[in-house]
Amino acid sequence: MAGTVSVEQAARHWVNPLRDPRDKRLPMIAGPCAMVIFGVTGDLSRKKLMPAIYDLANQGLLPPGFSLVGFARRNYADEDFEKVVIEAVRKHARTPFRQEVWDSLAAGLRFVQGSFDDDAAFATLARTLAELDKERGTGGNCAFYLSIPPNMFPVVLDQLSKHKLAQPGPEPDGWVPWRRVVIEKPFGHDLASAKALNALVNRVFPEETVFRIDHYLGKETVQNILALRFANELFEPIWNANYVDSVQITMAEDIGLGGRAGYYDGIGAARDVIQNHLLQLMALTVMEEPTSFEPKQLTTEKIKALSATKLVYPLDETTARGQYTEGWQGSEHVVGLHQEEGFDPNSRTETYAAITLRVENRRWAGVPFYLRTGKRLGRRVTEIAVMFKRAPHLPFDQTMTEELGQNALVIRVQPDEGITMRFGSKVPGTGMEVRDVNMDFSYGEAFTESSPEAYERLILDVLLGVPSLFPVNAEVELSWEILDPVISHWAAGGKPEPYEAGTWGPISAEEMLAISGREWRRP
Ligand code: BG6
Repeated sequence: MAGTVSVEQAARHWVNPLRDPRDKRLPMIAGPCAMVIFGVTGDLSRKKLMPAIYDLANQGLLPPGFSLVGFARRNYADEDFEKVVIEAVRKHARTPFRQEVWDSLAAGLRFVQGSFDDDAAFATLARTLAELDKERGTGGNCAFYLSIPPNMFPVVLDQLSKHKLAQPGPEPDGWVPWRRVVIEKPFGHDLASAKALNALVNRVFPEETVFRIDHYLGKETVQNILALRFANELFEPIWNANYVDSVQITMAEDIGLGGRAGYYDGIGAARDVIQNHLLQLMALTVMEEPTSFEPKQLTTEKIKALSATKLVYPLDETTARGQYTEGWQGSEHVVGLHQEEGFDPNSRTETYAAITLRVENRRWAGVPFYLRTGKRLGRRVTEIAVMFKRAPHLPFDQTMTEELGQNALVIRVQPDEGITMRFGSKVPGTGMEVRDVNMDFSYGEAFTESSPEAYERLILDVLLGVPSLFPVNAEVELSWEILDPVISHWAAGGKPEPYEAGTWGPISAEEMLAISGREWRRP
């Protein structure tokens, strides 16, 4: 019929209605596309990815023809797959369940069964994507989410390349659909393996089409580090070695590792958290102001920050590692790592890691950065504490200022999101007693909007093709360069030091700060 435009053609002429450069407050909605999740039956997919996709749909941020293809070995018919997705959505989505949103999402669900080395399954996948384009107008655009163990990457990447799914090339009318790949950490286990992995991925997907997930960068409070630093005048003058004494970055968890042995044993806290989340938090804290918030400019500054970041030696004194033993988490008695299901009873994997870093540039020269993370600690908390130098002179009687600590600015990443400022204040009364007080900004009180889940933001950015919140190759490699000597040093040493579950980690971590007369903040 002359004059009729198919959904397939319409998708190729789609213009983002909210992409109005004059109003930057409007969230952008993703253009026509599909997403394929490999490992769709796994934990991450059920708890984070599928709920986040629903939440995006619920906010109207996905295109009407959005299609989600699950790929896994298990034999689901499309309808069974639908049940798995709806169950995940009902259990884990952030926003309320709405039947009409679900119905339109469900219409685009497909399932492809097969193992990763199965050529026929990848041929089916290619056919399914082509059909979805015809039926629902995805524009042939597609993001492949590898929610699978890294040892499976080579085979899946080869298959995507072999079946022309990674870079399909221009269509007869010149239209070039986009293809992107999303990968989850671990990005290697040291610098050499990270380089090998990056080379492998880049053989099939050019770097600008690779989206590496560090879910911390998707958190509101982490993005707020940039707002705090670069949208205000108040902090910049004191954000340097003239005023800052030290910086403590903590990511503490109260959970243990039961059920995670397969991933965690042999990996440990430093590789699991410091290499990615904590070094990214540090990069955002120390970096210079980017010339704009274009992804390239932001990445340039983060790369400069990581290039200037060095370990402080000797590692025996400036690092600490530990392994939790049985203890009490509140009123619950919990077992130690060696008794956790699946762990080697002689495992030397650290569940607590702390390191000392410095930043070699004019702004930060001489300021120690202490990074720590651990499982089964006192409570779940992630924060960046910028500790300021003490006033050079106090014109008060010393006994009146005994309870005065250092001024601090604490960025509370989670769970109680906000910012605390600590400073000294006069205690009411006739004397001149000065004591620490806190001034608080809390997200919950200041804003009525609730924060989106990190995965909502990150998945949307993948579909929009905006890479600002994804670490590039160079950042991953620089992070390993920083961490590798610590891991080798620990590997050559004895066992990690035991610490009781429910405490704040091994004694050596306290000593690590005590050598310079400092101590950890009790979050
Ligand atoms: C993951 C780590 O990257 O982050 C886990 O592999 C950790 O070990 C998790 O539990 C913590 O994430 P969040 O968002 O709960 O702080």
